[in-house]
Amino acid sequence: MQKLVAYCKNRGFVFPGSEIYGGLANTWDYGPLGVELKNNIKKAWWDYFVTRDKNSYGVDCAILMNPRVWEASGHVSSFSDPKMDCRNCKTRHRADNLISEYNNKHGIVMSVDTMTKEEMANYIKEKQIKCPNCGKCDFTEIKNFNLMFQTKRGVTEDASDTIYLRPETCQGEYINFINVQRTMRAKIPFGIGQIGKSFRNEITPGNFVFRTIEFEQMEYQLFCKPGEDEKFFNLYKQKVMDFYKSLGLPAEKLKFKDHEKLAFYAKAATDIIFNFPFGWEELNGIHNRTNYDLTRHQEFSGKNLMYLDPITNEKFIPYIIEFSVGADRLFLTLIANAYTEEKLDDGETRVVLKILPKLAPIKVAVLPLQKNLSEKADEIFKTLQQNFNCDYDESGSIGKRYRRQDEIGTPCCVTIDFDTLEDNCVTVRDRDTMKQERVNVEELINYLKRKIYNK
Ligand code: GAP
Repeated sequence: MQKLVAYCKNRGFVFPGSEIYGGLANTWDYGPLGVELKNNIKKAWWDYFVTRDKNSYGVDCAILMNPRVWEASGHVSSFSDPKMDCRNCKTRHRADNLISEYNNKHGIVMSVDTMTKEEMANYIKEKQIKCPNCGKCDFTEIKNFNLMFQTKRGVTEDASDTIYLRPETCQGEYINFINVQRTMRAKIPFGIGQIGKSFRNEITPGNFVFRTIEFEQMEYQLFCKPGEDEKFFNLYKQKVMDFYKSLGLPAEKLKFKDHEKLAFYAKAATDIIFNFPFGWEELNGIHNRTNYDLTRHQEFSGKNLMYLDPITNEKFIPYIIEFSVGADRLFLTLIANAYTEEKLDDGETRVVLKILPKLAPIKVAVLPLQKNLSEKADEIFKTLQQNFNCDYDESGSIGKRYRRQDEIGTPCCVTIDFDTLEDNCVTVRDRDTMKQERVNVEELINYLKRKIYNK
């Protein structure tokens, strides 16, 4: 992980948040390459689940919502984690996370989800699980800690002015269910997708952008008829897994993990877990939330959230199948999977980011072999720029320039040499195979589109 964090910082993917002020723990800023990669990930998700599905609609809801939303959802009363403090160094920790990390390290397979506070405290004592900060095992009793960030609205500091930064995006999809259904004349089953920021006052954030206090979620809610929920739950489990494989994540690093302890309203819950450098952890959650959410919002808002089936005239509150992933967590997953150190025949090591070409932050690098070829190179660069995110680099040896592009995952390098002026052909070098091909400039855009987007 240290290597990945340093790589991301040095190559302009992710910088520590507020760095020149000494930072703010567990906040991160995406740099020029990071923002491109993250945007490409979000676009891939949106295209796959929203754009290419005729029964899907997108929304972009407000982060700040009426606080009653969070009463109805249950977050005000019970969105909490089991926290405890280290008596020695005064740092705060999540008991369940300390246990999971200990178990991961020692190859112990057991469910932490189902443990009570007492069981967790006893386990920590019995195994002498240490504070990650000071190494002592001397913790206070475990207490529940609400994860929602609060703020005040308006000029007075009245309790009634308390509002929350949303801890998940999906509530915006629930409270707009009728708006979307009516305006789009949507018929069940249909889905609503959203990508947006969420905030959680996590007790023990960490592992880089895996768990942070501010993050982006990509959440999708499928609204279906009661009785069809199990069918859609299984269908979407597979569809979501296929999505991750389509991004180049290998099957052997992905697994389903059913929840052993279900939320009282949930009928089924499965995580897709990934083998991160720090062990198997949740990448994506999939839940059958029954009709709980819409029932609660109907009750708390007093508005009718029933669906009228136009064929059978039946009225019912739809069931919801939800799948949800953090854009930042998927970013980390893809970078961790793609980062490769390759031994070459000459004994050198090259770092290559073997990311799916369509996700790469820069698609094409234009490299004139010598500075006096700049005019032709610039002309080609300007044409390519209309179609791809391109880089232009004329400094250093061609070998060094290739390595720089390999490191940041650029799938194609286009080299302009003296022959280009004669035959109007360039050399295209492939990032993964390092093979080179001569391509006519007239054909170049189509050639690159095929290589990068398979089109
Ligand atoms: N609406 C359901 C929901 O929010 P969740 O399991 O709490 O469920 C869904 O979160 C996904 O959001 C997780 O699988 C993870 O990918 C991402 N996520 C949750 N908390 C996060 C955090 N603190 N930092 C980064 N990503 C997070």
